[in-house]
Amino acid sequence: MNLLEGKKGIIFGALDDKSIAWKVAEKCVAHGAKITLTNAPVALRFGTINELGEKLNAEIIPADATNLEDLENLLTKSMEILGGKVDFILHSIGMSVNVRKKREYTNIKYEWMQKTFDVSAISFHKLMQTALKMDAVNDWGSILALTYIAAQRTFPDYNEMAESKALLESFARSFGYHFGEQKKVRVNTISQSPTMTTAGSGVKGFDEFFGYADRMSPLGNAPAEACADYCVTMFSDLTRYVTMQNLYHDGGFSTMGMSEKVLKG
Ligand SMILES: NC(=O)c1ccc[n+]([C@@H]2O[C@H](COP(=O)([O-])OP(=O)(O)OC[C@H]3O[C@@H](n4cnc5c(N)ncnc54)[C@H](O)[C@@H]3O)[C@@H](O)[C@H]2O)c1
Repeated sequence: MNLLEGKKGIIFGALDDKSIAWKVAEKCVAHGAKITLTNAPVALRFGTINELGEKLNAEIIPADATNLEDLENLLTKSMEILGGKVDFILHSIGMSVNVRKKREYTNIKYEWMQKTFDVSAISFHKLMQTALKMDAVNDWGSILALTYIAAQRTFPDYNEMAESKALLESFARSFGYHFGEQKKVRVNTISQSPTMTTAGSGVKGFDEFFGYADRMSPLGNAPAEACADYCVTMFSDLTRYVTMQNLYHDGGFSTMGMSEKVLKG
């Protein structure tokens, strides 16, 4: 299977081997792509992304996704290293300051909320605006961001990340129009099941909730590896006319009302 033969891409957000982006990077390379990896400078110090870089023979370019200069540098260097414009980009970034500092949703600190929006959602717009201005993406390229169903339904402990994801998904639709018109580039979000990662387990009550979602979904929670397979498909030429969509990758959770497994506990 060489769905990404000859394609070049940038993967944001691999922190450690539990990260969804880690699995996506592995699968993209296994499917023949050449990639660069990027993460915030602080994550490079605390995470294990260097191991992944060595394993995949991929360069790591530090970038704070909220910083326009960092993004410009990332795109310039990636094009140099990969030998031209990129064909795909994965935005796999999420961080809530209020969640991290255990502030309740009804007692939010607004400076922190703005930081959360900047990191988790506005960074996606910044990335796409920079890439479009620099003409850094090949025609018929594919841009993806990872999201969660709390954008549509209420999950109290997800806190301000719910609004971050709603904003992220809206940016995908709005920017998808412009990128599509100008460059035939598609922009989508994948709404993933709860997944045991650093960002995931930061949410209060995550373990119980993970089990509930698993029992509610007829196929069970979708694992990170399967999410990576879906990303590969979305980066491949087999999905060239899918754009401005929020695509559920959740074992059926989003369509369920009640399941026997949940009823029986
Ligand atoms: N884990 C889940 O349950 C779940 C479910 C649905 C969607 N998602 C989404 O998947 C994506 C990846 O999360 P994950 O679960 O793999 O966790 P993760 O903690 O492994 O990844 C989050 C990444 O965001 C990066 N990041 C934070 N601030 C940054 C900044 N300023 N600049 C650049 N990078 C920055 C972190 O360094 C980290 O690599 C996130 O968007 C998350 O919301 C996760």
